[in-house]
Amino acid sequence: MTIAIYPGSFDPVTYGHLDIIRRAAAVFDKLIIGILRNKAKSCLFTTEERVTMLGQVTRDLPNVEVVSFDGLLVDYCEKNDVNVIVRGIRAVSDFEFELTMAQTNKQLNSRVETMFFATSAEYSYISSSSIREIASFNGDISHFVPETVRLLVEEKSRQHNSDHD
Ligand code: PNS
Repeated sequence: MTIAIYPGSFDPVTYGHLDIIRRAAAVFDKLIIGILRNKAKSCLFTTEERVTMLGQVTRDLPNVEVVSFDGLLVDYCEKNDVNVIVRGIRAVSDFEFELTMAQTNKQLNSRVETMFFATSAEYSYISSSSIREIASFNGDISHFVPETVRLLVEEKSRQHNSDHD
């Protein structure tokens, strides 16, 4: 049985992420979506909110499980029998960072392989950071995220903007 993990911040999850999730779930026996409990980064959504959000948008995929993790990704893989790390590559600009991370993880645990999925062309320009920025200026994010996520991001941005008035 091949268990893969798709790790990331998912702040928020986008159609680009969902494209990778669906395709990876079709390739591997089980796909874990691993949300980093990121202390260094200030996120729009709490870890728990992101776990719930990812669970909602992947509920039609029976072999997908959503978890959060902290510490090293390879340690999570070792403890949970994960064989493959999945990452999406949107453009050449992603490649350098992704290659370095894959090589670092391979050095830390040679049992775990990283496999890259090329993001589908129609989603290759989407990023969570641009979605957060567009929403903060009340722009339309409906082309980038599912409806449930759009409502959550808009609500969060309103709260965030009023807290910082
Ligand atoms: O969506 P992101 O923020 O680009 O995801 C980055 C992530 C979570 C995959 C990466 O930061 C990570 O794996 N962090 C866990 C700590 C770790 O294992 N670091 C060593 C790998 S370089």
